Amino acid sequence: MEVKTSLLDNMIGVGDMVLLEPLSEDSFLENLRKRFDHNEIYTYIGSVVISINPYRSLPIYTPDKVEEYRNRNFYELSPHIYALADEAYRSLRDQDKDQCILITGESGAGKTEASKLVMSYVAAVCGKGQEVNKVKEQLLQSNPVLEAFGNAKTVRNDNSSRFGKYMDIEFDFKGDPLGGVISNYLLEKSRVVKQPRGERNFHVFYQLLSGASDDTLKKLKLDRDFSKYNYLSLDSAMVNGLDDAANFRTVRNAMQIVGFMEDEVQSVLQLVAAVLKLGNIEFKPESRCNGTDESRIKDKNDLKEMCELLGIEQSVLERAFSYRTVEAKMEKVSTTLNVAQAYYARDALAKNLYSRLFSWLVTRINESIKAQTKARHKVMGVLDIYGFEIFEDGDNSFEQFIINYCNEKLQQIFIELTLREEQEEYVREGIEWTNIEYFNNAIICDLIENNQNGILAMLDEECLRPGTVTDETFLDKLNTICAEHQHFESRLSKNSKFLTDHSLPHNCFRIQHYAGKVLYRVEGFVDKNNDLLYRDLSQAMYKANHSLIKQLFPEGNPAKVNLKRPPTAGFQFRASVGTLMKNLQSKNPNYIRCIKPNDKKASHIFTESLVRHQVRYLGLMENVRVRRAGYAFRQAYEPCLERYKMLCKNTWPHWRGLAREGVEVLMTDLQVPAEEFSYGRSKIFIRNPRTLFFLEERRRQCLQDLATLIQKIYRGWKCRSHFLLLKQSQIVVAAWYRRYAQQKKYQTIKNATTVVQSYTRGWQARKLLRELKYQKRCKEAVTTIAAYWHGTQVRREYRKFFRANAGKKIYDFTIQRIMQKYFLGLKRDMPSMSPIDKNWSTRPYRFLDGAHTELRRIFHLWRCKKYRDQFTEEKKAVYEEKLEASEIFKDKKALYPSSVSQPFKGDYLEISKNPKYQKLNSTVEEKVLLADVVNKINRANGKGTARIFLLTKKNVVLADQKTGQVKASVPLPDLTSVSVSTQTDGFFALKLKEGSASAVKGDFLLSSEHLIEIITKLHRMGATTADRTQLDVDISDEFLVQFKQEKVCVKFIQGAPKNGNSVSCKRKNNRLLEVSVPTTA
Ligand SMILES: Nc1ncnc2c1ncn2[C@@H]1O[C@H](COP(=O)(O)OP(=O)(O)O)[C@@H](O)[C@H]1O
Ligand SMILES: [Mg+2]
Repeated sequence: MEVKTSLLDNMIGVGDMVLLEPLSEDSFLENLRKRFDHNEIYTYIGSVVISINPYRSLPIYTPDKVEEYRNRNFYELSPHIYALADEAYRSLRDQDKDQCILITGESGAGKTEASKLVMSYVAAVCGKGQEVNKVKEQLLQSNPVLEAFGNAKTVRNDNSSRFGKYMDIEFDFKGDPLGGVISNYLLEKSRVVKQPRGERNFHVFYQLLSGASDDTLKKLKLDRDFSKYNYLSLDSAMVNGLDDAANFRTVRNAMQIVGFMEDEVQSVLQLVAAVLKLGNIEFKPESRCNGTDESRIKDKNDLKEMCELLGIEQSVLERAFSYRTVEAKMEKVSTTLNVAQAYYARDALAKNLYSRLFSWLVTRINESIKAQTKARHKVMGVLDIYGFEIFEDGDNSFEQFIINYCNEKLQQIFIELTLREEQEEYVREGIEWTNIEYFNNAIICDLIENNQNGILAMLDEECLRPGTVTDETFLDKLNTICAEHQHFESRLSKNSKFLTDHSLPHNCFRIQHYAGKVLYRVEGFVDKNNDLLYRDLSQAMYKANHSLIKQLFPEGNPAKVNLKRPPTAGFQFRASVGTLMKNLQSKNPNYIRCIKPNDKKASHIFTESLVRHQVRYLGLMENVRVRRAGYAFRQAYEPCLERYKMLCKNTWPHWRGLAREGVEVLMTDLQVPAEEFSYGRSKIFIRNPRTLFFLEERRRQCLQDLATLIQKIYRGWKCRSHFLLLKQSQIVVAAWYRRYAQQKKYQTIKNATTVVQSYTRGWQARKLLRELKYQKRCKEAVTTIAAYWHGTQVRREYRKFFRANAGKKIYDFTIQRIMQKYFLGLKRDMPSMSPIDKNWSTRPYRFLDGAHTELRRIFHLWRCKKYRDQFTEEKKAVYEEKLEASEIFKDKKALYPSSVSQPFKGDYLEISKNPKYQKLNSTVEEKVLLADVVNKINRANGKGTARIFLLTKKNVVLADQKTGQVKASVPLPDLTSVSVSTQTDGFFALKLKEGSASAVKGDFLLSSEHLIEIITKLHRMGATTADRTQLDVDISDEFLVQFKQEKVCVKFIQGAPKNGNSVSCKRKNNRLLEVSVPTTA
């Protein structure tokens, strides 16, 4: 696949100066201008980004742009600061290399903006999340705070950084920010008390006065009017495009986000106000009688207000402004201050107050943004230091000297790494190389920082020297020592060449910096280097009842009096720059070289001479030349092979030989043209980025394939392990199931076997038992037979010794004797002859049972016969009748037992004798067998009517009891049956033959006290009469009676005795006549 390089597509000029053809300074500038005119402010020299300040906002920093540059190859898209930021960030994240972003350029060239762009880009692309976002926000918001206190409007830049700032952003292994550390370098504190024409004091003063609420100002005892304050320059108090009031709110907000407490913010503002107040303290001379000049504070109001703000006792401060105490060994000497000294003391205090406040702010911010974890982290350092500065009118002072020294050092690093280091590397690696000349500014650095005769060293020496020390003595010293240095120029130096140089005033020296000549006025060098604050002042400050102030002036603590001089400003700065350089050198550098297109801070203006100058001193041409002659990319063989080994079958996955040979095989296999790369001793050098892109692109594809492969294998593995797991589980399940099934089957078989076994055993046992039984029987039989046989044998043998049949005889005799005794006893105990005597002797022997019973029976029968033989004929007849009654009724009718003892009288009425029945007797022809009074039951209502009942041999007659008149006469043959109940009543129904003459009126229902006798007699009549069938006697509790036409059921019930013990009879309905018989009747 063709590598996409929009760096080359639609390019305005060339995006990378390396591609510039022909290469000359003019074409270089022309290319920059062309691109600048088309709003292309970024141009590459290899991996270095040149940035030209557009002085207007361009639409190239949108979130879309961030996305566009995110994770893209450096040369893939058109040049942009984001490409560099992305490259640095990815290198940090993916290759674990600490990075530093070096931003250099003159003041106003856009360094600070560039650093902010880099930070915001990194913030946008790195990880997200609540915690991470908070860290990011704090890191970003530290900028406005530091800018308010450390930036000021200068003639070159409306927002010029007046301090050096180096910020380490710390990331974890994922590339998420953890925190940061800010280092600040030498704030230009002289600005607090005096600003060059056309410049302002630090922003914060103006922001506070314009932005703070009336209330706040009142609390701080401030007035909104700038003109009231000596320290604020008035000619440029208002800056176009700067809204101080709005910025004040931004700063307050930023402080809050960074984590400042409200009381901390208040303290900070109080200090700022105090500085302003301090500026307003003025002194007037006062001559003392001893001739010395003293100073007096003109108007104490400001002093008072300031003291109130800081909680300082006014008198203490007042004294500190009037006297200076010098401590030497054990002595303390106080001298009065004259007006100039008093002003000096005041300004020194103001500068110290402000610069210490600034350092405190940095420390405080660091406290907030420092990484919370101790885990190993990677670092990206962003260096935004004040740019090279030249005041054209020669008004350059100690500050500029320091600033420019710092820039020299940075240039040095750039030269070291991009020009010298690179060229030296080619030589070292044995690559064919023609040396390219460039200006090495090491000599200038040496002039300034050399420990023996460097300018800074001499300044220190001068400051520490006893005796009178002035700026002039310092210059004299320079003039002697540095006279021969080719970059040092001074009118009075031993080098006579400058004696007539009128552009060089007497109180100045000039240094040919890498970026041009700078004329420094020595005035103030010694003081500024000394950075002296009278001890009386620091002690006064320490006494303040204000926690922050106390912290800022620790040396004022009388308990810790330190007689040693504090290190000079120059010394401190040199040390910190040294540390910074070491720090930078340990990191992978990324350069942004900022160029200022014009001096007017105007957009669209490209001042060629100005740019040419910068291009020259920045060594950009040399940079391009080295780049062009050299190689875009180099890498040691091992990491190179490691990175690209997947592109060739021979090197993938492992190369056994030397790394270099591996890389050679790789390059041959990939058919990279030989002129595109060179083999160094330990590194491969790739000439063209395009080749690198080609490799990278191939690698990316290959990685994708590998990822797919890994994915494939992983998925396969995952599926297989899942399958194996399933299989294993299935085997376990199957095993368990089989075991269970087999157990069950086994159990069934076992049970079956047991049954079969038990049957078999049973069968066998039975067989055996049979066998044994049979044997036993045989044995028994044999024994029996043997016994009998022996018995027979023995008896046969012994028969001759006994009398034959003696046994039987004895037996018979014994029986006879027993019988005899039995019979005799029976005779003796014979019962009486009464048939009802139940006595009978008991039998003596059981075997006599039958005979004994039989004898009893026979005796009873005999006794009865004897008894009967005594009967007369009449008595016999009576007994016959009684017997018959017994046969009919015994156990059938409950009335019967009571009749047994009653003799059957027959004629109860004595009908033949009683004259009353004469007539009736005469009507009845035959002999009356029975005469009695009966109750005839009325068929309709069951009421009884007394009737005379007569029974003759032929008829049954019913007659009126009173009159004796015959009411009915029924011939016996017309009677078919008699019905009686089973109970104790005397009711009986005479049933008549159907169709007979007597049956017209229906059957008779009668009741008699002599029922048994009547029925017996009636029955006998039938028995004795041969031509008649015997009368049926029907005994039951329910029978039908024919009353005229209807059949009525007569039902006997057992009822409770009501009207005495009499039987009651009731007609219940047509078909039922109920007779209630008392139970106890
Ligand atoms: N990339 C940019 N886009 C728009 N304006 C810029 C850009 N870089 C710088 N500027 C303008 O130039 C001014 C000076 O830039 P600054 O970064 O403060 O300079 P330096 O820090 O180098 O002194 C900024 O205030 C801003 O107005
Ligand atoms: Mg700046």
